[in-house]
Amino acid sequence: MNFSERVLRVQPSQTLVITAKAAELRKRGIDIISFGAGEPDFDTPDFVKEAAIKALKEGKTRYTPAAGIPELREGIAKRLKDKNGITYSPSEVIVTPGAKMALYEVFSVILNPGDEVLVPAPYWVSYTEQIKLCDGVPVIVPLSEENGFVLTAEILEKYITPKTKGLVLNTPSNPTGAVIPKSELIKIAELCLEKNILIISDECYEEFCYDEDHVSIASISKEVRDITFTINAFSKSYSMTGWRLGWVAAPEEYIKKITIIQSQTISNPTSFAMYGALAALEDGGKFPAMMKEEFKKRRDFVVDQFLSIEGITCPKPQGAFYVFPNVTAYINGDIKNDIELTTYLLEDAKVAVVPGSAFGKEGYIRLSYATSMDNIMEGMKRIKDSLLKLK
Ligand SMILES: Cc1ncc(COP(=O)(O)O)c(C=O)c1O
Repeated sequence: MNFSERVLRVQPSQTLVITAKAAELRKRGIDIISFGAGEPDFDTPDFVKEAAIKALKEGKTRYTPAAGIPELREGIAKRLKDKNGITYSPSEVIVTPGAKMALYEVFSVILNPGDEVLVPAPYWVSYTEQIKLCDGVPVIVPLSEENGFVLTAEILEKYITPKTKGLVLNTPSNPTGAVIPKSELIKIAELCLEKNILIISDECYEEFCYDEDHVSIASISKEVRDITFTINAFSKSYSMTGWRLGWVAAPEEYIKKITIIQSQTISNPTSFAMYGALAALEDGGKFPAMMKEEFKKRRDFVVDQFLSIEGITCPKPQGAFYVFPNVTAYINGDIKNDIELTTYLLEDAKVAVVPGSAFGKEGYIRLSYATSMDNIMEGMKRIKDSLLKLK
């Protein structure tokens, strides 16, 4: 083998490791309940599928402009104005194959070797690895359960160095569901303006804010907008994870450079899928609102269940569809860490959950409640029974 140094720096996703283990057990006929999924359990709405089918039938099957079809860029710019209160022209929007690729493209156009990017932890697994792939250095900013895992400007300031180039913001957060309040976003934005730090704002879960409305950091002021990459996707909000469609909105010069990357790599996002996304925009948020109602009930149930287990603490997530309970009370004796606890839960309770260490926070587990209420009730019962055996 003769690998590049770059690829050797990168770890495989631990969320996929647990999913693979669960799939293996299922194949052997074992009834596994999975709380591992990072995607809604709802099907893509029919009106979206039909729009894509229509596009296929009309022959919209060829290369498109690298930045995506103009109608979709316009639609996204309009949505950003109407829903998020940020003014972007269509030329300041690029359609990407999902938020994941959007993030990678942003890191590619802003990072030079050794540039530091602040990543609040617990973090979504791909941030650190993508930064490393782009020759940058992820600088972990640890957050604590006592603050509900909410990032503050005060915490952030301690990790800024002359090499800091960017900050990754993810509100609502995967894995904690934490939402940064507007008052704090304003302070974070002021700090970034003062220290000349670019903001990479991953807003994939914006439709799932349970207790207060989502605030996009770029909506704070024109100055903040000009240092921000607003990233989002159809993946979670329209249950379109497999369609691979997301976007970046940012000042035009950045979008032009990202477009060069797309034109030299993927050429363009899938043509007919983009027509499905156009239909999703026309829905005006009704579909995600329906999912949110359901997710909220599940969140309340799961949090109550965890709080009823002796020794477990569990901040109430304000958004997304994950809970992140503290399970340190059950890490002792034969079970030395959260990874071993998730293996125990898989083998004993037949329940798949992801260890907190995969997200840079040991002693916790992440559960996705994007699964049916029946599964949640049965799964929580099994988790309780198995944990109690450890007492
Ligand atoms: C925080 C966060 N950002 C980005 C993504 C990737 O989204 P997409 O499927 O649109 O690439 C995910 C998916 O799990 C996520 O949780």
